[in-house]
Amino acid sequence: MEQYAIKGGNPLVGEVEIGGAKNAALAILAASIMTDETVLIENMPDVRDTNVMLQAIESIGGIVERIDRHTVRMSGRAIKDLVIEDDFIKKIRASYYLLGALLGKYKKAQVTLPGGCNIGLRPIDQHIKGFRALGADVRIEHGLIIAEAEKLRGNHIYMDVVTVGATIDVMLAAAMAEGQTIIENAAKEPHVVDVANFLNSMGAMIKGAGTDVIRIKGVSKLHGTEYTIIPDQIEAGTFMFAAAVTKGDVTVKNVIPKHLESISAKLMEIGCEVEESDDAVRVVAAKPLTHTHVKTLPYPGFPTDMQPQITVALGLSKGTSIVTESIFENRFKYVDELTRMGASIKVEGNTAIIDGVNKYTGASISAPDLRAGAALVIAGLAAEGTTVVDDIKFIERGYEDFDLKLRSLGAQIEKVNSERELQKFRLKIG
Ligand code: UD1
Repeated sequence: MEQYAIKGGNPLVGEVEIGGAKNAALAILAASIMTDETVLIENMPDVRDTNVMLQAIESIGGIVERIDRHTVRMSGRAIKDLVIEDDFIKKIRASYYLLGALLGKYKKAQVTLPGGCNIGLRPIDQHIKGFRALGADVRIEHGLIIAEAEKLRGNHIYMDVVTVGATIDVMLAAAMAEGQTIIENAAKEPHVVDVANFLNSMGAMIKGAGTDVIRIKGVSKLHGTEYTIIPDQIEAGTFMFAAAVTKGDVTVKNVIPKHLESISAKLMEIGCEVEESDDAVRVVAAKPLTHTHVKTLPYPGFPTDMQPQITVALGLSKGTSIVTESIFENRFKYVDELTRMGASIKVEGNTAIIDGVNKYTGASISAPDLRAGAALVIAGLAAEGTTVVDDIKFIERGYEDFDLKLRSLGAQIEKVNSERELQKFRLKIG
């Protein structure tokens, strides 16, 4: 089993290029098969989740041609099967986007119930409610969600909760429904806007993405396009917090600073300097970190996908901090691992009360999910001694070359595959 071996203590210093947004890419790849013409997608992150999505698309006859590591040419013209039953697809939550895409284009789809990170109950009732409002018959049989309609008709849909997944999924289906759909209480995340822009570049008529009311005039056909995916807000934020936690000086490049505002604001609050330029943000952590309070919220609030990373930073910040998780109910599982590294954190329901400690100490720990895994790596980079992180397959779902990028900033981190390799790492770093 692959692990990360980390020797902490080096401040991260330098520049790092941020890749395309994983969560935008997953929806955009699914949406690509809604046309029979060719679609070229650039800035696609080469991570496990996007690769699983591409495999799923190929499994139903979608044409996928890799131009280079971050560019893919696709077409839905040869799709012959509307059933996504691949075991792989259970591994990614975003498999539900194929439901919206296939339902929109073919008015029929069957997709295995989604999996993804185990961070709490993750219902899909709002997706189903949206599809039903568009006139689809939706049922769950033998672990599959089956959606079909003679015709999809636009409708007025009010989302009971702000959900990125359901907003995008319903937008996909509604893009090819008859008449107008209005989604109210829509999610406003940058990747919702990116998917709308992508669909519009294929001839869809979507307005209002990025606000809480999205209006979609259905079209009967979508055409080919060339599109570049936006930078990954969470990958950028993770490196920004890695700079803070290791007392470093890191510039994240190829980002949209506006998307990082809630992250930058919290870093400044805890004592970092944050400099923004057109497409880069520099984080300098020259002073000791201080405590703060934070609550995760839908965009433009502080992202739930950055909650473990900020908790790791606050664990080393002077004073008492409170982190409230308002999106997912079971997203503090990693705290046990962090406690093994010396953190002083008490979790009560959806709140973590953190008493800052002076240092973390290296330990053998496991990544419980994608973002928590990345956060524990950051803790290891700041810790005294060696940290070994297990289950890095979770981290590789969403971070491309995480160890390589960290090494380029001066981190001592290596992927090891056996006890022997781990011993070699220990000998090398002394
Ligand atoms: C997506 C992201 C994930 C991120 C999350 C919130 C992808 C592949 N994943 O997940 O990284 O943490 O947005 O930014 O893009 N909900 C319902 N009913 C539904 C759908 C959601 O009650 O039908 C609830 C969820 O339980 C959760 C909240 O709505 O409490 C937000 O979920 P949602 O935004 O849909 O998250 P995901 O799409 O699962």
